[in-house]
Amino acid sequence: MPKQRVAVLVSGRGSNLGALIEAAKEKNYPAEIALVISNRPDAGGLSLAQAAGIPAEVIDHSKYGNDREAFERALQALLEAHKIDLVCLAGFMRVLTPWLVGRWRERMLNIHPALLPAFKGLNTHARALAAGVKIHGASVHFVAPEMDSGPIIAQGAVAVQNNDTAETLAARVIKIEHKLYPLALKLVAEGRVRVEAGRCLIDGVPAPDTAELVPDPS
Ligand code: GRF
Repeated sequence: MPKQRVAVLVSGRGSNLGALIEAAKEKNYPAEIALVISNRPDAGGLSLAQAAGIPAEVIDHSKYGNDREAFERALQALLEAHKIDLVCLAGFMRVLTPWLVGRWRERMLNIHPALLPAFKGLNTHARALAAGVKIHGASVHFVAPEMDSGPIIAQGAVAVQNNDTAETLAARVIKIEHKLYPLALKLVAEGRVRVEAGRCLIDGVPAPDTAELVPDPS
């Protein structure tokens, strides 16, 4: 089966993009990172792409003013020009309209730094601490028109420590993100993810039958 051609959309430093680029170097990985697009000309992710020899394009949203449609048409045109099969949002800070999301139904993924459906939106780590949750983490999901919703493909968890700050928690969650996004993309690119009644079912990869307790009772 030919490798799926993936575009990664970024707005910032691009550490998840870096993790995807690394994973895709593996010979048997089912996807190749074929294009990186940023809506900000200064995004760190662009230099990561260039260093890896991946075409990197900027579609500066500020040049489109309030015309979201024109911005998204430019995006769609680039995705088509590069024959993209799957899109990964990785710290892409623009809300997409139902027009674009509808075109990429079950072919556009996003990573969110919380265990969805908890803590949608921004400042997830501070909000998780304030809520006193004992388990926090990250989710990769298919993109739906409503922000941070859509069928969940994979999740990774970290235990919250007594002395955690938003920063220390973020540092542990981002490490999980870097493992989680390559895994979720692999499953989708291999065609192992089916959506049924709003739920992703994963073929051929059993979920572990153990669950963790926090705090650890042992
Ligand atoms: C990550 O925490 C991701 O979950 C969120 O935005 C952040 C992007 O970080 N959507 P990076 O640019 O991949 O380093």
